[in-house]
Amino acid sequence: MNRFDQFISRQNTNSVRWDKYAKDVIPLWVADMDFAVAECITQALERRIKHPIYGYTHASEELKEAIQDYLLKKYQYTIQKDWLVFIPSVVSGLHMAARNLLKPGEHALIPAPAYHHFQMALEGSKNPFSTYSYVLQNNRWVIDLDAIRKLTLPNTRLLMLCNPHNPGGTVLSASEIAQINAIAQEHQIIICSDEIHADLILDPEKQHIPIGKDIDPDHFTMSLMSLNKTFNFPGIGLGWAVIPNASLRNQFAKDLHTLIPGPNALAFEVSLAAIQGGDAWHNGLLEYLRQNRQIVKTWVDSHASLQMAHLDATYLAWIDATLVNNKQLSQDFVVGGVAVSPGQQFGANDFFRLNFGTNQMLLREALARMSNVLEKN
Ligand SMILES: Cc1ncc(COP(=O)(O)O)c(C=O)c1O
Repeated sequence: MNRFDQFISRQNTNSVRWDKYAKDVIPLWVADMDFAVAECITQALERRIKHPIYGYTHASEELKEAIQDYLLKKYQYTIQKDWLVFIPSVVSGLHMAARNLLKPGEHALIPAPAYHHFQMALEGSKNPFSTYSYVLQNNRWVIDLDAIRKLTLPNTRLLMLCNPHNPGGTVLSASEIAQINAIAQEHQIIICSDEIHADLILDPEKQHIPIGKDIDPDHFTMSLMSLNKTFNFPGIGLGWAVIPNASLRNQFAKDLHTLIPGPNALAFEVSLAAIQGGDAWHNGLLEYLRQNRQIVKTWVDSHASLQMAHLDATYLAWIDATLVNNKQLSQDFVVGGVAVSPGQQFGANDFFRLNFGTNQMLLREALARMSNVLEKN
């Protein structure tokens, strides 16, 4: 049996995803997966837990070197160890970037539709911001680069990127990255790139490019990275920012652990274990998620009222339900036994996002229930 086919009940684990709705609702909303982590991660936790003192912990040189090797191996990205700033989660990194990198009144550009914390970060820092859109091109959601150019103001100081994109799944190409970097360099804009989904690329021929790769460190870029999503331990959580420029790094890290805590002792262990021993599990995961993507695509194609562009990456399907013409569709799905993320959460009312990071039996059951709802519509 494929390990990812196993059904593992998440009852009694206080799961955010599984506890929000009634027990008989299949929750395909918030982005974690129903898969057991790789054995190397459980073993690393067991090893660390055996030592009975859990004091304040810093990132080891071994972990920093492992990340260095990982970025080189995966993305041919060469970094220095001191470019790394450790954080407990990528979301905290987004919020700290907005608060620490912008002066009052400085303007930011953020993606839309997008994961809601981009907008929340700017609302939290109280800086003005504009949203740049994605447009459909050859069945793929692409950033409207002209919109970015037009929206850039003399006081624009920060450009937030989500690459790969949640919810559209787009992986930016080398040419798109080069154009974005060129705009930022011309206007002296800092780029903060959320790359949490980088290791969830489903198209084997596509390659993640960290924003600072091949860029002079004098230019202001930062990648927010984490293995939380890929290896399915967001409840433990570790992230890091890669910031080549020293002054930008200091600005980002200033008073960092006043408002947010330093990462916890177990978080360092799981991330190191994932890097050192997680490859086989990761390859199996990508293979399984590719199959799930196909199951979802076949289902979407069987409904004339639904559309989905090609998803390069992530386990989050972004489905256009404009033709269903039902403002209550997500609520109706819940009544029909499935919880998805309503598009409003990402700034697109007629869409919904479906998390297919679950076993195929449950996924097929959820899709059958959703078909019943659509038939009654
Ligand atoms: C683009 C993006 N950034 C950040 C996060 C959350 O990351 P973390 O749990 O490390 O804060 C998510 C989770 O869905 C996400 O999709």
